[in-house]
Amino acid sequence: MLKSFKRLVNPTAKTKRDEEALISSIKQHPLPQHIAIITDGNGRWARKRGLPRTAGHAAGMMRIREIIRSADEIGLPVLTFYSFSTENWKRPRKEVEYLMRLPIEFLKSDLKELIERNVKVQMLGDKQQTPQETYAALLEFEKQTAQNTGLILNFAINYGSRGEIIHAVQQMIQDAKNNQIDADMIDESLFSQYLLTKGLPDPDMVIRTSGEVRVSNFLLWQIAYSELWFTDALWPDFTSYMLFEAIQEFQSRTRRYGAVT
Ligand code: IPE
Ligand code: IPE
Ligand code: MG
Repeated sequence: MLKSFKRLVNPTAKTKRDEEALISSIKQHPLPQHIAIITDGNGRWARKRGLPRTAGHAAGMMRIREIIRSADEIGLPVLTFYSFSTENWKRPRKEVEYLMRLPIEFLKSDLKELIERNVKVQMLGDKQQTPQETYAALLEFEKQTAQNTGLILNFAINYGSRGEIIHAVQQMIQDAKNNQIDADMIDESLFSQYLLTKGLPDPDMVIRTSGEVRVSNFLLWQIAYSELWFTDALWPDFTSYMLFEAIQEFQSRTRRYGAVT
């Protein structure tokens, strides 16, 4: 299903030498601990080529593979992809069905490599509401990579940040009723423990492709102090080189957290 679109995913315009120089430059400074990516623009990428939207999703998945490899190669600790939002169920049934098949395809094609790379795959979002086969594939990813200690790779699937926050509040009320917590104990750190990202560092950087400049219900709590990076590139055109450029710019920014530097 995916191979046929391979030739349409442009290789990076830069030479290998340019890329190596950029990698060695970013390795001289601290890397972000967590990059979260809103992989947007698959549909427009396909439309530009007179292809169905699903072709854009297939091409986008190949880009996900490339970006995982690059993130792993530079030693990024945590990488998160926003792959399917709770709002994306509003799309045409055929498109949703196709998107729900992608994790199954990805499991077949990439699980082995991810295990070899020591990547730990985790899902953010309510995976139980996905079709049975998708759910099984998502569980299999988590199970097969649970012991891995390298790159933590999160896929936000059937994820919505407001829903996540509401769920956290419900859990806290339940724990309060059971006398496990009380109101005085609630602070930012405790609240974070009730979110799906429990135990993960907040994203240092959020990347969104496709020229849209919004967050679309993604990690609203967790991105309070993230550095944002927007590009007009459509997701299937997003190259490793662009990832490295984004990291380089991140390294040149001053994060003040409200203080004076
Ligand atoms: C992002 O690409 C992938 C998903 C939301 C699943 P889109 O499908 O949103 O592509 P555009 O925004 O229509 O171009
Ligand atoms: C955001 O993209 C969600 C994902 C990339 C999965 P959308 O294409 O769904 O966002 P909107 O609708 O343009 O805000
Ligand atoms: Mg979109």
